[in-house]
Order: sequence, then structure tokens, then C-alpha cells
Amino acid sequence: MTTYLVAGGTGVAGRAVVTELLRRGQTVRVLSRRGGSPGGGVEHASGDLVSGVGLAAALEGVDVVIDTTDGKTRSTRDVLTTGAANLLSAAATAGVSRAVLLSIVNVDRGQFAYYRAKTRQEQHYRDATLPTHVVRATQFHEFVPMICAPAARIGLIPAFTHTRFQPIDTSDVARALVDAATQERPSDEPTVVGGPEVLTMREMATAWQAATGTRGRVTNIRMPGNMGAFWRNGWNLVPDNTFGTVTFEQWLATR
Ligand SMILES: NC(=O)c1ccc[n+]([C@@H]2O[C@H](COP(=O)([O-])OP(=O)(O)OC[C@H]3O[C@@H](n4cnc5c(N)ncnc54)[C@H](OP(=O)(O)O)[C@@H]3O)[C@@H](O)[C@H]2O)c1
Repeated sequence: MTTYLVAGGTGVAGRAVVTELLRRGQTVRVLSRRGGSPGGGVEHASGDLVSGVGLAAALEGVDVVIDTTDGKTRSTRDVLTTGAANLLSAAATAGVSRAVLLSIVNVDRGQFAYYRAKTRQEQHYRDATLPTHVVRATQFHEFVPMICAPAARIGLIPAFTHTRFQPIDTSDVARALVDAATQERPSDEPTVVGGPEVLTMREMATAWQAATGTRGRVTNIRMPGNMGAFWRNGWNLVPDNTFGTVTFEQWLATR
């Protein structure tokens, strides 16, 4: 029996990975700083990738690591760099067979701090002494609502101009990660997975507003900076890699 450690298994993507592993009858341990509530057929280990505390114990008896950790703010971003290096070194010491990382489509083309940290995270995986594989996904269905919801509190629902997304369901991302994690000899080339359709941000914002009954005006905004340019260039899209099956409308209907 293979034991999987899902680093970040309490997060949005990580929870979907845990569900997918359990659906396939695998043994699952979750690693996060706060740990999770016991039960549900999953073991929980508390540990911090950045300080390294708890990693050796969390990795004991683990065959495969799936890394879905995240640090969305400047103060937590070290988890993507120092944290990835610590996790991989502890995994090698513990005799883990392979590690799979969740990353973002075309992340190395992004010239902003978060994407630069994710690119360094990918590099740690490529440089690791154990076999590794990277799965690059498009934005999750949660992504545009995560931008719209806070702004809607002041009556404004942003629709970045000339910006499209190919949103993917985390259950589809999880399927790709677990498929990769079960390969004994992972490929050096990243797996690239996108959602089933490409939508403008206005279409997504409008659909989200209708589904949630949120008040506010969908408003065209030109997103400034490198991030705005990244979206307008369509570097977040992979129309030839429509791996996802769940559409944004279907996802909204389940909220
Ligand atoms: N959002 C998107 O559209 C999208 C698209 C493609 C790829 N991705 C990638 O998907 C990954 C997961 O994103 P998400 O939104 O699912 O993240 P999330 O919900 O914020 O979850 C992050 C997880 O990491 C754990 N964590 C954070 N810092 C840690 C540390 N120092 N040590 C141990 N565990 C730590 C958190 O638990 P604790 O806080 O309890 O430690 C949590 O379980 C990210 O790497 C992101 O780049 C996201």
C-alpha cells in the first residue's frame, strides 16, 4: 500500500487531492501548520515547511508527496521557496520515492513577486535529488470570485478588460495531480491542465453575481502592471489542454 503525504492538504486544492486519493483507496496523511480535525480516514501531521519543524515525523513511512502548499502574502511566501527546499530535502532523507508539485500555467512568464516565487519553487523541484513532477494548472473556479467578492463590498464588481480565464475545478486539478503521483517514473516535462472553456472576466463576474445575488455594478477596469499584461497576453490560457470537465456555471450551481 502506498502512503501519500499531501502538504497543504487542508487548503482549497489540497482538500480536493485528499478526496481524490481516498476515492482511489489510498492511504493519506495531511501536513499543514495548524493540522486538521482527526477522522475521515486521514491522518494529520502538524509541521511547518519554512522552519522545518515536524517535517521528519510527518514524512515517516511516506512513499509519495503531493505539494499543494501556498503563501499568498509577502510575509507567508517563503513557503514556496525555503519551504519547498526544506520539504524536498526532508523527503529525500526520509526515502520518499517521488514528489509532485502543483503550479500555475506559464508561471515562468510572470514578472511579479508571487509568480517569481512559484518559479523558484518549480526550480527546487527540478533540482531535487528525488524524482519529481510539476503539474501546471489554469486558475481555479474560486479565483475570479476571490477577486470580485471583496470589491463587491464597496459596490464594485471588477471585470478586467481584455482578460480571459480558463477556470478549472479543483477536483479536476486533483485528478491530474494524483494521476501524476501514481506514475513510478515521472516525466521531466510538466503536465499542463486547463478548464473546459475560456470565458471573459466580465462573463465570469456577471455569472458569479447572478448566482450569488451579490449587489454591485460589474465595472470594466484596466488591470495595471505586469499582472495585467500577463492576463491581457492570454498567458494564463491553454486552450489545447482542456483537461477539466466541470464548467464555471456548474461550479457556481454547487455553491
Ligand atoms: N488559486 C488558483 O487559481 C491556482 C491555480 C493554479 C495553481 N495554484 C496553486 O495551488 C496551490 C494551492 O493553492 P490553494 O489556494 O489551494 O492554497 P490554500 O487554500 O491557501 O492552502 C494552502 C495550504 O498550505 C498550508 N501551508 C501554508 N503555509 C505552510 C507552511 N509554512 N507549512 C506547512 N503548510 C503550510 C496551509 O495550511 P496552514 O495554514 O494550516 O499551514 C494550507 O493547507 C498554490 O501553490 C497555488 O499557486 C493555484
